[in-house]
Amino acid sequence: MSIEVSEEIMNSKVSMKNKSDIIPEISKRAKLMQASPLRKLAAIAEERKKKGIKVYHLNIGQPDLETDSAVFEAIKNIQQKTIAYAPSNGLVPTLTAWKNYFKNVGIDFEENELIVTSGGSEAIIFAMCSICDTDEEILVFEPFYTNYNGFATIANVKLRAIPLSIANGFHLPAKDEIEKYITPKTRGILINNPTNPTGTIYSREELERVVSLVKKYNLFLMSDEVYREFAFDGEFISVMSFPEISHQTILIDSCSKRFNVCGARIGVIASHNKDVIQTAFKFGMARLSVATIEQLAVIPLLNSPQKFTKPIVEEFRKRRDVVYEGLKSIPGVTFYKPEGAFYIVIGLPIKDSEHFSRWLIEKFEYENETALLAPAQGFYATQGKGANEVRLAFMLNVEDMKRSLNIIRFALDEYKKKF
Ligand SMILES: Cc1ncc(COP(=O)(O)O)c(C=O)c1O
Repeated sequence: MSIEVSEEIMNSKVSMKNKSDIIPEISKRAKLMQASPLRKLAAIAEERKKKGIKVYHLNIGQPDLETDSAVFEAIKNIQQKTIAYAPSNGLVPTLTAWKNYFKNVGIDFEENELIVTSGGSEAIIFAMCSICDTDEEILVFEPFYTNYNGFATIANVKLRAIPLSIANGFHLPAKDEIEKYITPKTRGILINNPTNPTGTIYSREELERVVSLVKKYNLFLMSDEVYREFAFDGEFISVMSFPEISHQTILIDSCSKRFNVCGARIGVIASHNKDVIQTAFKFGMARLSVATIEQLAVIPLLNSPQKFTKPIVEEFRKRRDVVYEGLKSIPGVTFYKPEGAFYIVIGLPIKDSEHFSRWLIEKFEYENETALLAPAQGFYATQGKGANEVRLAFMLNVEDMKRSLNIIRFALDEYKKKF
């Protein structure tokens, strides 16, 4: 059953003072909490489907492929008679499986340097809470994964966004440009590599720029590497390959994307900094534990990662190639070749991508089909940035991907004539 949330709560704007004599007011922080920027368009898409229009969902980041049967086998083989709380840092076999996973990708962690979390999401919240006091700042590069905003609101920290540009495929700016954003309140830098929403992968040299600033200003570096295996061209380099900042580095990871188990909610926070891990452990104690069944279910995946990730990554590589080639046939679109993850941000030859995306899902159809896009403004913190950009997620098979790009091409044609 869906929860009906009023516009004023959703928009986090309207003061509820006039209601305060009837019910207590929600907190100021609650009012700041963002709702998913995509919710309105998703609701329109549902209406459209009811009218018999096929909707291609290019808006969401949930892999559409089947979860491997090894996960369901592991669940069937569970012998326990009681579903008890797991230890707050994670079940021992799950911690060992995470350690094995990291070893497999060339990263050394001991079990006592890991806390199993409810997805990468909880790991990010724990990381923010562990390093920042109220209103301290974390630097991010925009566009960024929009839920970082929500995590920062929960943790009561400020995100300070450093703008990137579509012109160079959203690669990092020069070191002195990044340095300008560091203030006495800055406690850390949060990077996401490979990146949602842009598909960018940072080179060693780019990472060195960040690492040197982290060292110079004694900051933490949080690296969200949940898309690690989705590296299509060239090498992916983890922040864990910079031993000079190993005690300042916090790694955020997750089974969700690479193993197609988004609903299992198994992630991890990992660090060689014992204070950080012990603090994350205390946050973990407060929420008791992560789901026991799911922790057991992902063990086979973590123990032999390549076996499971390889076919998934190959499928997404095909889709990336189809999207990249397909975009060449749409006049006026600005794009680049995403190096990883399964997203791309494209510039459209129009002024307002929110208006276009709404019109596309609400009014447009081609052969009884339309597409749902994610306007890119939701991935920027700076007002007005990304106004003509949309994010595409490669969540459809190759044929459907081609059809939806065709729909965008025809829709842009018609839209430009109308507006
Ligand atoms: C960059 C990034 N980090 C973290 C997450 C959180 O994923 P989960 O909590 O499922 O691990 C996502 C999900 O889309 C993401 O795109």
